[in-house]
Amino acid sequence: MAPEIFRDSMHAEMVKLGKALVAQLFVLLKTSAHYSEGHAAVQLPVAKVLEGIREIQQREEATLRIKGNHLYLGDHRLRPDAAGYEASRFLSHELKSRQVGQVTFTAEVTAADLRSFVYALKEADEAAPDPYSRMLERMQARRIVHIEVEMLVEGMEAADVDADKLSDDRLKARLLYKKAVSAMENVMASTAAGQPIRFRECKRVVQHLIDHLYSHESCLLGLTANRCHTSYGEMHAANVCLLSLAMGKRLGLSKFHLCELGMAALFHDLGKAHLPAALLDKESELTPEEQARFETHPLKGVSSLAMLKGLDKMTSRIISGVFEHHLMADFSGYPRLPYGRITLFGRIVSLADNYDTLTSSRVHGRTAVSPDKAIRYLLSRAGQEFDAPLLKVLVSCVGLHGLGSLVLLDSGELAVVVETNPDPVEAAEPRVRVIADAAGRETDGDVFVPGRARPPRAIVATVDPSLLGFEVNRYLL
Ligand SMILES: [Fe+2]
Ligand SMILES: [Fe+2]
Repeated sequence: MAPEIFRDSMHAEMVKLGKALVAQLFVLLKTSAHYSEGHAAVQLPVAKVLEGIREIQQREEATLRIKGNHLYLGDHRLRPDAAGYEASRFLSHELKSRQVGQVTFTAEVTAADLRSFVYALKEADEAAPDPYSRMLERMQARRIVHIEVEMLVEGMEAADVDADKLSDDRLKARLLYKKAVSAMENVMASTAAGQPIRFRECKRVVQHLIDHLYSHESCLLGLTANRCHTSYGEMHAANVCLLSLAMGKRLGLSKFHLCELGMAALFHDLGKAHLPAALLDKESELTPEEQARFETHPLKGVSSLAMLKGLDKMTSRIISGVFEHHLMADFSGYPRLPYGRITLFGRIVSLADNYDTLTSSRVHGRTAVSPDKAIRYLLSRAGQEFDAPLLKVLVSCVGLHGLGSLVLLDSGELAVVVETNPDPVEAAEPRVRVIADAAGRETDGDVFVPGRARPPRAIVATVDPSLLGFEVNRYLL
């Protein structure tokens, strides 16, 4: 009984502190609307907010978050009373309108950070097309590193109860994917500017991806087949992260180890932040000098990670994955090693990286190949450059045809592979979406497993979408 009483009184205390913090932030926001940043009038409310945060931090982490229409301090819901209603409504609106769903004040937060944060919020125009990115950009410009924000993911809680479950799951997957890409954009910009990485933000994104992977793997993996050349590097990082996580999950890794693997995969090309865009985007083949420079990126990524505060076991495992991602199973690749051992994380990230690069890269004199061709290429080198057992695991994730492949059915219909078959025995039988009928007319077609459709169909060939002018992306999302 005693622990329950203790828990209740702790909850009541946290709610009290949380409501006080909301009220103090409200006063600070209102004051900042009338006075410029350096004005003495702003000092007192800043000091009060900091005091409130410090009190909370003596007990728990100081994180304010929005769930639905409610504000929470950590897991404690802050039900506003009449006196606190306006403060709660105002703060929620200010955060929501910038798509900020969570704010964490770290232990190192200072009065200067708090003052700067409030003005960054003002500068992040809520009418901007992507207010969250604008907010991140303002925080970055102001070098606010002891306050971390996360994007608001609307509708997440409703996903399990909504009647239109499929579309909600897809929406949730898309938002999580977007979050991973945006976290990575932030990380690459910070690294290039020599600023600290928002490690915790990335860790949370990876943890969300892992949770979602357990319930809706196909929705998430489907997104990796999306070929888009804006934000290519960041999307590549998100794809390699998802593919590595799916492989790690099949290998039975615990959620703790999956988180480490996901971080290694997300950060695998971090070192590219130190290379000039002209080298990374060069369409023709690299000269030997350029190639040598390009090959420094695994080591450059390691040095960026090694600069992180609190380097521990988890970061050292992430570092191995980043360092080894261009090493092949036969120890060819780079950087050249004086020993013959590659960690499991290194081998997984390397395979995921190779698959995604083959299917999406159009730089350095290479042309992207279709997913099934990429799989065939990898299989042709199984046991040499590519670890054969791990390759089987990758194939079980993306299927023999590869997610996003355009296939011809024996009925004459054209279809896109939208979901792999979770049963490894049926890897050749993915779920497809028909996009053109036998006469070649574009249709908003059915989704089915060809062998189980009525009448049953079979996949007879894969087709190059560029030959037919089909944009496969839009059928995947
Ligand atoms: Fe790389
Ligand atoms: Fe890569």
